[in-house]
Amino acid sequence: MIDSLVFRQLYPKDIPQLRILCSESFPIEYPDSWYDFVTSGYFYSNAAFDQNQMVGVIIAENKSYKQIQAEDVSIIARHFKYNRVGYILTLGVAKAYRSLGLGSYLLSRTLENLEDQNCLCVYLHVLKANKKAIAFYENRNFRQHASFPYYYTIKGIPCEGSSYVIYMNGGYRDYPFIILLLKRFSLFIFICVQKIVTNICPNQRSRRRLKRFNCDSV
Ligand SMILES: CC(C)(COP(=O)(O)OP(=O)(O)OC[C@H]1O[C@@H](n2cnc3c(N)ncnc32)[C@H](O)[C@@H]1OP(=O)(O)O)[C@@H](O)C(=O)NCCC(=O)NCCS
Repeated sequence: MIDSLVFRQLYPKDIPQLRILCSESFPIEYPDSWYDFVTSGYFYSNAAFDQNQMVGVIIAENKSYKQIQAEDVSIIARHFKYNRVGYILTLGVAKAYRSLGLGSYLLSRTLENLEDQNCLCVYLHVLKANKKAIAFYENRNFRQHASFPYYYTIKGIPCEGSSYVIYMNGGYRDYPFIILLLKRFSLFIFICVQKIVTNICPNQRSRRRLKRFNCDSV
């Protein structure tokens, strides 16, 4: 099925079709400025077309540490502040085209692209009630990072959202300082502990050797 689709980035002329796909896929209404912004060429985008009809889309951003929103900043360790991270704004597939592998294809191409651009992680936000999407991301190695009770407002009602993340290129989350220290020097700490333990209680082999030496000398 995927072989028969045409893939390309979004342009302003795609806004009417993008609106239809987004309204079919998401309970959130995006303002006009959002559509202008995501089709401006600033973002990474990949849209699938079946005979000129948009049937799937993914929009992502390659951003700097400084551009991460305050509530998400712990997604990557502080000492990576000169590195890049990826953020998925939108992934949607038209209902008639779901469960055919299109969502997986769009996601994996985007992850490859962001990994090639040296991003250390890729994260996204999802409605907590969207169990299907959460299972989809978890099955593709995304893990929950945090929950936000009032992240979305749908028809005037606040709804809980979660952030999900996948790490790449050696990236990892921000930990309390002591855990980071332990992580960094784990090999050194392991060797020190091993030496201390060997000194305090010499192992059985050396005890046996000592015993044999005593016997030999008798
Ligand atoms: C989440 C979403 C993008 C998934 O898209 P999709 O095209 O259905 O995704 P896929 O077809 O790749 O995978 C969906 C399931 O179909 C299965 N599948 C994939 N290819 C298949 C095939 N050829 N035949 C049968 N099943 C298949 C997959 O195994 C997958 O199940 P899994 O997660 O247990 O592995 C889509 O459901 C959607 O647009 N939902 C609404 C919008 C949304 O919630 N977006 C995410 C929040 S940003």
